[in-house]
Amino acid sequence: MSPVFPTTIIPANCRFLQHNIVLEPLPFPDNTFDYVHQRLLIAGLKPRDWVYVVQELERVTKPGGWIELVEVDGHGGNNGPMTQQLWNWIELTLERRGINVNIGTQPGLNNLMEQAGLVNIKHKIFNLPTGLHGGKIGALLKENEQALWIAMTPTVLHGTGIDIQEYEDAIIASAAEVEVFRSYHTVYSACGQKQTCPLPPLHSPDFGGSSPISPMPAPLSSRLTFVRSNIK
Ligand SMILES: C[S@@+](CC[C@H](N)C(=O)[O-])C[C@H]1O[C@@H](n2cnc3c(N)ncnc32)[C@H](O)[C@@H]1O
Repeated sequence: MSPVFPTTIIPANCRFLQHNIVLEPLPFPDNTFDYVHQRLLIAGLKPRDWVYVVQELERVTKPGGWIELVEVDGHGGNNGPMTQQLWNWIELTLERRGINVNIGTQPGLNNLMEQAGLVNIKHKIFNLPTGLHGGKIGALLKENEQALWIAMTPTVLHGTGIDIQEYEDAIIASAAEVEVFRSYHTVYSACGQKQTCPLPPLHSPDFGGSSPISPMPAPLSSRLTFVRSNIK
């Protein structure tokens, strides 16, 4: 959504578009891409947006094509007290905006993919060390984390009402803490494939009953079994 695009290294087959996926469908026809990747939207999407967004990614993927989602959570692990405090402030700020920073487990990227009708879903959760104890990647992640704390300053101060000095002291303390406590970020990654034939309708046919309430859809697992037996 932010127009912050690379300006020096741009592959010839690469185009950048500015678009708000929550306000409007993606500006691509159905079944356009072989592979769709979405990363680090955790602070931008509300729980109900997630369901819609993954369905939208499914729409623009070709049948048989793949979608990959990669996210982190809002608290990391092995945190020292000041680092934990920073995460708590961020989590509180985002919660007050209706954002769930635990989308990696609640409901889980794999479950969002399943709801969107994807199949052959693989889900992986792993920890990336933050700091020099994690080598070059750890050093870069620490740099990135410090930049995140700083960039979030106005948002967190506004969201929590804390004092700027307290916030800045915590950032400085955290730079040392991540090395002592061997902190890490947890990464959630999932891949799923778009089906090659469409799912049957979500709702059972209307048999003319008078109830205004739609019948419950069959559980997804039974619908997937049905599709598999169709393919045979
Ligand atoms: C943490 S950055 C991640 C950027 C990039 N995906 C990456 O992994 O390096 C989050 C990005 O999500 C974008 N974003 C947030 N809400 C969005 C929305 N509703 N529609 C499209 N992009 C959105 C922000 O503009 C920002 O560029």
